Amino acid sequence: MNIIFHEKSKTFHLFNNEISYIMTVLRNGHLGQLYCGKRIRDREDFSHLLEMCERPMGSYVYDTDRLFSLDYLKQEMPVYGSTDYHAPALEIVQKNGSRIMDLQFVSYSIEEGKPGLEGLPATYTESGEEALTLRIVLRDPLTEIKVELLYTVFEKYSAVARSMRVVNEGGEEVHLARAMSFCLDLPDCDYEWVQLSGSWARERHVKKRRLEEGIQAIGSMRGNSSHEHNPFLLLRRSGADEYQGEVLGLSLIYSGNFLMQAEVDCHRQTRILAGIHPDCFDWKLEAGECFQTPEAVLVYSDQGMNGMSQTFHRLYQSRLARGYWRDKVRPILNNNWEATYFDFTEDKLVSIAEKAKECGVELFVLDDGWFGKRSDDHAGLGDWQANPERLANGITGLAERIEGLGLKFGLWFEPEMVNRDSDLYRAHPDWILHVPGRRESQGRYQYVLDFSRREVVDCIYEMMAKILREAKVSYIKWDMNRSITECYSEGLPADRQGEVFHRYILGVYDLYERLTGEFPQVLFESCASGGGRFDAGMLYYAPQGWASDNSDAVERLKIQYGTSFCYPISSIGSHVSAAPNHQVFRNTPLHTRANVAYFGTFGYELDLNSLSEEEVCQVKEQIAFMKKYRQVLQFGRFYRLKSPFEGNETVWMAVSEDKRTAVVGWYRVLNVVNDAYTRVRLAGLDPALRYRNLRSGTLHYGDELMNLGLITSDATAGQVPAGVKPCTDYESRIYVLEAEEETLL
Ligand code: DGJ
Repeated sequence: MNIIFHEKSKTFHLFNNEISYIMTVLRNGHLGQLYCGKRIRDREDFSHLLEMCERPMGSYVYDTDRLFSLDYLKQEMPVYGSTDYHAPALEIVQKNGSRIMDLQFVSYSIEEGKPGLEGLPATYTESGEEALTLRIVLRDPLTEIKVELLYTVFEKYSAVARSMRVVNEGGEEVHLARAMSFCLDLPDCDYEWVQLSGSWARERHVKKRRLEEGIQAIGSMRGNSSHEHNPFLLLRRSGADEYQGEVLGLSLIYSGNFLMQAEVDCHRQTRILAGIHPDCFDWKLEAGECFQTPEAVLVYSDQGMNGMSQTFHRLYQSRLARGYWRDKVRPILNNNWEATYFDFTEDKLVSIAEKAKECGVELFVLDDGWFGKRSDDHAGLGDWQANPERLANGITGLAERIEGLGLKFGLWFEPEMVNRDSDLYRAHPDWILHVPGRRESQGRYQYVLDFSRREVVDCIYEMMAKILREAKVSYIKWDMNRSITECYSEGLPADRQGEVFHRYILGVYDLYERLTGEFPQVLFESCASGGGRFDAGMLYYAPQGWASDNSDAVERLKIQYGTSFCYPISSIGSHVSAAPNHQVFRNTPLHTRANVAYFGTFGYELDLNSLSEEEVCQVKEQIAFMKKYRQVLQFGRFYRLKSPFEGNETVWMAVSEDKRTAVVGWYRVLNVVNDAYTRVRLAGLDPALRYRNLRSGTLHYGDELMNLGLITSDATAGQVPAGVKPCTDYESRIYVLEAEEETLL
């Protein structure tokens, strides 16, 4: 890893063994983009990459130089208005109303490691040797606005992290209308764009399309990163697939409104932008003030999409997620939501927990409904004290009973919300986001608290911290069940209302930071009506997130498969729930529900007392299995082998770091009759190791399993021989492969 600056050609080259990122100072003093991709050898001068030719109808920065136009020169921090007609990365409205800027290169510095971003989640290093960070300073001479671009290149990851800081060093106030975290001008558009999109209960489905002239974009204007689009995208070269070919992955470490777009111009060059959504964004920057954008992470892979995912997994698992739980296998939990909804008493909860304990569960989680006057979703949010009518001994008493059973205790909160029917709302009706004098839209009968105000965050912090100080709470599920409407804060003047969306999410991050700081051993799980805020920003505070309210095993195949494009398996909240399923009313076998949930944090979302004796035995076996293999499942290398978006079968697998253990998940949605013989070529094994297939007892070398494949054919349906259990719809199998001592020499 290194960052080289060639003085003569004014060229920066950031690289490690896998990736090169090259920029240069252009003749007009702006920062130009030269190359981003597979590591190439360094040289003194890359200026031949500046492809300039005379274009008819062009506009030129230099009157006489018909070759120099920002319309087609690739740039790092482009602004609109001086010959560049693409969407800009930065837009600043100045005192005189102009938005024209002339960002001149001033200086650079290189430091070891990576600085933190104040108030924002970001990747980090634990020692100076892990990364190098380049800080480039640009300045607009007229307004004296300073722009600092931060680029970090990591030693071990094929990734570059990037963010921007804008400092008003002039004497006059300005307004930031757009401040994108990331801009990359690519020389062509020969890519397929892949995004993760969906809706509530259908999050992060994989969607693809070819890049074409014009703008294609994903984003959110909901205040949360959203169920609809995830702040992640990838571009893959024609022919690239899961295991080969070039892929660029881009992830924004942010949980609020965002925009990610690709603009392909008439010369088929592509500009990628990512950052806070510029719509409704207007940040006043007074003299001396600064603004820090969120961080974006670019990953390059020449080993297809799976190679890209593995870089994200390793980087995000160990250098974005933090704290006590970062590297630890996750407790197997039982959550009471789908078991009872709002209909519970303390004794009922304890009876569920007792059965859970008997089965081997480690953590019992009390979900919504324990506080204020909450007997359904019309009341109580904001009043974070236990409801004595339900829990006579409070959370402290219940937690003691649960701990007395030998289980850890976890608790649900929805800190950002308030019901009109609550003491908090009655005391502070102005604490919700709303426009005075206008109707306030509801979502699930609740309103969004104005987290842009310090006193609101302080108040919620005190209520939550009191419970955590008094009761033995080991886990928090932090929910967020509606998006923002009427985004207006009574705490800010008129000319700062365009800051509310971003200040809101900064308030959320602040509360997370304070709580995780005071209670470092509490495991946080983020949630937003399932996966409505499942993003890299959240991962910095909560090492796991509830992936979706859809707990059906078949639906989960697509949700978890899509989620794995960017997010580590240890972060994917996944539970076994009841049959028929509460979202799609499908009856899937218990083993299939577990076989899907193993590839995540694993737990149960049902009352285990409602199961038959035979099913309880199965649950005990499932929990024992998960305890044995969760290190591999959650922290091993994850490989996608067959996509649920492309056929009836899904296959994925996890391999331990030492490659001696692998767990393969095979799933078939609909049963088939008289089907073809099937094999699945595995990945990530050691070709020379001999593995025992614990399902069949047979032995196979790694090279056989990876080239010839694992045989997955079965007696499908129809004339099943006596003694063989027939397959059904929603069939699945887990294959465990354990290396045996004897190896090929
Ligand atoms: C939405 C979450 O996703 C569910 O798991 C559950 O916690 C409910 N909210 C509770 O209201």
